[in-house]
Amino acid sequence: MTTAAADLWHHYGRTRAERDRTVPEAFHWLWSQDGGPGPDVLGDVTGMFVGDLGAGTGRHAAYLATRHRPARVDALDASPAQHAMATDLYAHLAPRLRLVHADVVTHLRRAPATYDVLYSVFGAVDFTDPRELLPAAATALRSGGWLVFSTLAHHLNGAPARPDVAHSDIPAKTPEGKSATMRRWVLQEHVWAKQLDEAGLTGSTSLLLPASGSGPRPADTLLVTARRRATGPRHTQPRLRFPVPRAR
Ligand SMILES: C[S@@+](CC[C@H](N)C(=O)[O-])C[C@H]1O[C@@H](n2cnc3c(N)ncnc32)[C@H](O)[C@@H]1O
Repeated sequence: MTTAAADLWHHYGRTRAERDRTVPEAFHWLWSQDGGPGPDVLGDVTGMFVGDLGAGTGRHAAYLATRHRPARVDALDASPAQHAMATDLYAHLAPRLRLVHADVVTHLRRAPATYDVLYSVFGAVDFTDPRELLPAAATALRSGGWLVFSTLAHHLNGAPARPDVAHSDIPAKTPEGKSATMRRWVLQEHVWAKQLDEAGLTGSTSLLLPASGSGPRPADTLLVTARRRATGPRHTQPRLRFPVPRAR
């Protein structure tokens, strides 16, 4: 049963938030969060406006805000529980870190040409219809800005990623522990590439990162980058680099 009003992210990350209040010492894209490419994939974010789409408790955003020198990192999340935990853990990192309680599509549509970099680590990109999220991201990116996201390369039960833009219903729990479902978009590389292109995000690259083997539910990660189509004279030179792309 789908429970629309319940916060299905109530439990996510809660145990860790209760025992670990630190800013992480590393930034990982992998599903297992234990290695692989790091923040270099974003390039040099010095002086940039950065948005984390579906930031959860804000650990990746806190890492960037403290260990790099962005102008600001906005950690966006729609879950009241996640936003509350992020606020408890990292509100003191303002103003370089801004914790925003919002649905990303709504927020991005209201913020045209605001961000140099948007990223998602198994965040809102996984759980929001890409036909809504990706055009909103294109709107919010400055000309030449980048979207980078890590997402599942296949379903957690081993089923392959979908060959078209269709969601899967995955199990979830209400705050009271009742069974529920939520939507997750697990799409093949070419499907992401087509959606990105149609949204005005160009030159997409994707990298398949094999599961590291650790953890109870190992999964391969797809790491995707794309760039806001350059318009007008503001686009002078790329400011980001992606060191290990497999060009499409
Ligand atoms: C699996 S968690 C990942 C959190 C974080 N990126 C991390 O790596 O720990 C997914 C997060 O995306 C958020 N999310 C999903 N769809 C969203 C949307 N449309 N707008 C804002 N947040 C969203 C959820 O509330 C949840 O906190």
